[in-house]
Amino acid sequence: MTGDLVVPRSVAVIMDGNGRWAKRAGLERIRGHERGTEAVRTTVTECARLGVEALVLYAFSEENWKRPKREIKLLFGLLERFLVQERPTLMDNDVRLLHSGRRERLPADVLALLDETIALTAGNRGMRLGLAISYGGRQELTDATRAIARRVAQGELAPDAVDEAELARHLYLPELPDPDLLIRTAGELRVSNFLLWQISYAEIWVSDVCWPEFGRDELHAAFRDYGRRVRRFGEVR
Ligand code: FPP
Repeated sequence: MTGDLVVPRSVAVIMDGNGRWAKRAGLERIRGHERGTEAVRTTVTECARLGVEALVLYAFSEENWKRPKREIKLLFGLLERFLVQERPTLMDNDVRLLHSGRRERLPADVLALLDETIALTAGNRGMRLGLAISYGGRQELTDATRAIARRVAQGELAPDAVDEAELARHLYLPELPDPDLLIRTAGELRVSNFLLWQISYAEIWVSDVCWPEFGRDELHAAFRDYGRRVRRFGEVR
């Protein structure tokens, strides 16, 4: 039943709890990430079907580089597989893929597949899917500030012209609308360096369900709850 859903224009997801799900099931952590990939497909197709304009998924944070090398390697293996295997899903659902994050540390083969899939889907006009990989909110703001400082130093931009809109134009994906709804799974009440600028007015919905178990029902529950929120944006309404 989707009749009473209010579909946000823009959604961001912190996909947490893959490891905990695997541990509870007596499995290796990587099995949790594998099942998490299936949950990614479900959320992407359902958000596209419901008419979400932009979905950003936190797939690998800057802090995740501190994980054991083996887990990082396996995670990037899953990402590579996703970027190839899900091409038909992205095309069938008219989804356009984008990357948010720093490119420098990404392995060359991951970058190549990412760029190929981005190019393949560039003409799609439905939902835009931002994959945050090697992403950090503080790093994004630092990179934006550095780019602005460079333009000011070169005389292209007056210091007084640096306003909110100018800063927003220097973020990794300036074309995406700010998230209306931030979903986090596995019960943690943190934003974990995700989209720090963009979530200023996002509604937050935390599910106790671990990411591998997050399906259509949980997504619909989030959208239903979102529909009950009164968004005031600091004003009196
Ligand atoms: C958090 O679980 C999840 C991640 C760090 C990675 C998310 C990756 C996927 C869902 C799979 C690959 C992604 C795509 C887009 C194909 P955790 O390991 O921090 O879980 P824990 O907190 O329970 O240990």
